Amino acid sequence: MRDSLIIEGGHRVCGEVRVSGAKNASLVIIAASILARGRTQLENVPKIKDVEVLLDILKYQGCLVEWEDDGTLAIEVPDNILTESPYELSKKLRASNLLLGSLLGRRRQAKISLPGGCDIGSRPMDLHLKGLQVLGSKVVLEHGYIEASVIKLQGGRIYLDFPSVGATENIMMLASTTPGTTIIDNAAKEPEIVDLANFLSAMGAKIRGAGTDLIKIEGTEELKAVRYAVIPDRIEAGTYMAAAAATGGDVMIENVIPTHLLPIKAKLEEIGADVTQINGGIRVRGNDKIYPVDIKTLPYPGFPTDMQSQMLAILTIAQGTSVIVENVFENRFQMVDELKRMGAKVKVEGHTAVVEGVPHLHGARVKATDLRAGAALILAALIARGQTEIDNAHYIFRGYEDIENKLRGLGVKVIS
Ligand code: UD1
Repeated sequence: MRDSLIIEGGHRVCGEVRVSGAKNASLVIIAASILARGRTQLENVPKIKDVEVLLDILKYQGCLVEWEDDGTLAIEVPDNILTESPYELSKKLRASNLLLGSLLGRRRQAKISLPGGCDIGSRPMDLHLKGLQVLGSKVVLEHGYIEASVIKLQGGRIYLDFPSVGATENIMMLASTTPGTTIIDNAAKEPEIVDLANFLSAMGAKIRGAGTDLIKIEGTEELKAVRYAVIPDRIEAGTYMAAAAATGGDVMIENVIPTHLLPIKAKLEEIGADVTQINGGIRVRGNDKIYPVDIKTLPYPGFPTDMQSQMLAILTIAQGTSVIVENVFENRFQMVDELKRMGAKVKVEGHTAVVEGVPHLHGARVKATDLRAGAALILAALIARGQTEIDNAHYIFRGYEDIENKLRGLGVKVIS
């Protein structure tokens, strides 16, 4: 299978692009569909590799998975769904850990191979496990697997040391079918958490406070299958916004929720782009000059770590020096060495990158090291003079639906 993208750089990116459904919301909502009996129908789920792998796990477990003619994803879960998520599939996807909460919620047991996913630093599971234990689960870590079973499920109060997205989601899913009241303190506030809460509520769960740092869940006995539309992907939107800003282009981005994009909009405006909301979409017009900015990644509503690499790529050609501090994941500056091959001047020390703007980048052969690093290399390729060949493009296909055609629709010459 092809595993590289060749991009001809140095041109303005102009036109219209439609954003797909959110990867991270889709993954957790697919995992949560296990909680219901009957046929769950999900609209707006992107056809990307990460979704495909999660669906393969569900099929292995006995679920019926079908893409209907209009693009709706249908999932039917058998009563005796297998409670194991095998190593071969789980290692490909970090989000396979989200089956812990839903399998426990549905079958009262789960055996999950310790998940894989992008290599962006140590990604422990302690907060997930702490939450499941407070609700009455027994957790054993052995031979690379997490085995969870239930002693006696009962709602409880959990304080998360860090507002982990995955831990908040796993606890929400289990708490939805756990007797009594569960409270999550210092919960994650990301839009994908709110989307999960809306989905679970549509299924009959009783959830309050999603989107704030205190989420309260009253357990219900049975959840029903529903039809639900997933929110648009704010990181995909942000990436196309960044492409317009980086190239002095003009892009109309359709299918967005503008409030989810505020932190990204703010930084793109600081670098000199003009960002306006038009009829539910967002138009970004880039400036010929890119101004340096400082960025600190933080949990929502702070600047998203999933947009950090893309911003760093743009700032390589800013008129001055920018400082980027990565506060969420270690190892998220791996693409810096690749950017240097294209002429970037970046110094990394621990969690901080100092980016000294250069007049231009030049095309080179580079390789993606994770999903968002891949997106950053695409932006660098768009800015650069000449051709850039990005190897390991499979990382990019994990999270960006139909990216080659969407770029072509914006006038980019992509060879794949
Ligand atoms: C999710 C997103 C990912 C995004 C991240 C932060 C999905 C499928 N992925 O990942 O795209 O970059 O949120 O917005 O939704 N941590 C612990 N202990 C734990 C769990 C997490 O220490 O038990 C730490 C992690 O090491 C990391 C930080 O918390 O430093 C954030 O992780 P978390 O919010 O859990 O991210 P994910 O859910 O893995």
